[in-house]
Amino acid sequence: MSIPPCDVLVVGTGAAGLTAALVAAERGASVLMLTKGHAPDSSSWHAQGGIAGAIGDDDTAALHAGDTERAGRDLCRPSAVHVLVEEGPERVRELITMGVPFDPELSLEGGHSRRRVSSVEGAATGWAVTSLLGRRALRSDRIATIEATAVLSLLAADGRCIGVLTPEGPVTARATVLAMGGAAALWARTTNPAGQIGDAVAIAVTAGAAVADMEFMQFHPTVLEGSRLLLTEALRGEGATLIDSAGERFVDELAPRDEVARALVRKGRAFLDLRSIDRSRFPGLMAEIERSGFDPAVQPIPVSPAAHYTIGGIVTDLNGRTDINGLYAAGECAATGVHGANRLASNSLLECLVFGRRAALAALDEPPLPASLRDAAAHEPAAPPERVAPESLREQVWRDAGVMRDPAALTELAASPDPVASLVARFALARAESRGVHYRIDVPAPDPAFEGHFVLRPGRGLALEHWT
Ligand code: SIN
Repeated sequence: MSIPPCDVLVVGTGAAGLTAALVAAERGASVLMLTKGHAPDSSSWHAQGGIAGAIGDDDTAALHAGDTERAGRDLCRPSAVHVLVEEGPERVRELITMGVPFDPELSLEGGHSRRRVSSVEGAATGWAVTSLLGRRALRSDRIATIEATAVLSLLAADGRCIGVLTPEGPVTARATVLAMGGAAALWARTTNPAGQIGDAVAIAVTAGAAVADMEFMQFHPTVLEGSRLLLTEALRGEGATLIDSAGERFVDELAPRDEVARALVRKGRAFLDLRSIDRSRFPGLMAEIERSGFDPAVQPIPVSPAAHYTIGGIVTDLNGRTDINGLYAAGECAATGVHGANRLASNSLLECLVFGRRAALAALDEPPLPASLRDAAAHEPAAPPERVAPESLREQVWRDAGVMRDPAALTELAASPDPVASLVARFALARAESRGVHYRIDVPAPDPAFEGHFVLRPGRGLALEHWT
């Protein structure tokens, strides 16, 4: 099968990819969306709590920025935070206009000083937003979607990215937008769909793009023991408590996520007590908990942390541009610096909407691909095999680069043949301090000498950069 060229190729069908595709198509571009799974396999689809945005009467973009920066532990890139919080409310209002049935009340989540999270049925926000955007993409005659087609590498010619190589052959485009999600499924215990193993970073690094912040994997504290079922932070916003085996509370439930995750690990076994909250606000989630064999009305639910969100990724500017011409990245696979060392709850769907749109607008400025470059794609060498993450690798990543890290284990992981696992370990070794989601047992405090982003640029090795 030969896949026809398009103006904008979007890899990934989550909220960032759908946003980029719709924005580009609305402006007349022909768009092809590719995904290695099926469209609803994205992390966005599974996102629960919601979308942060200063739309409440008592809220401002400045307050949202302050909370984002506090959670990010002195590492958020100020210009990216400014864009996120200033443009965020408009993106949320657009979704309201499109018909997303947001709950009448804003939710509260950890690290937020205001109720500012828009959610659907308490915990069905990702599904509601991505299915609505997905239906709009299906209706657009400028957007085609091909599922079950992995991207094996990027195609480059004449100093620019000209598309991607798939098992079906090359796909060329004026601009390529990677919106492929993160790497949390590289950890054995994760909330993410199985395919989220950092493919975007793997192919971008091979092509010579810079990556940053790979040491920062965010662990969500409240995931049902022995499963991938996330119990949204909004439950704690409604008053759910975390208790130990003796029924005692042991942590501020609304502290930033990294603190809560470490408190759970230190405690050993913990339970989320939902008995006193208004559970009717979360109908779908309560049904899922019951299907998993627990009755939230009578028993506290056993929870423990799981890898949830990849803060690091492909370095981009505020318009999704990577340092390879014609290549853009948005959403979880991108590193704009907006989350610093710890993402504030519910800033990730917002990031997809804000930076997915910006990436699409910038991509539209790419010049057409001359026929000679399209022809060059036909002569690409054979594609590399599709990357896989066997259980043994995922167990090792969980063990060696988990919530609490020690340098000996990281050194072993750095030698992994898997490029993303190895990068995580190399970045985590370089950051010889503890900050946000990255905790080193040998250096348990932050060190001002590390107030910057570790970046790996081709030919330059790992170096600390200061992003404004
Ligand atoms: C949650 O609902 O707790 C997760 C939302 C997020 O990761 O921001």
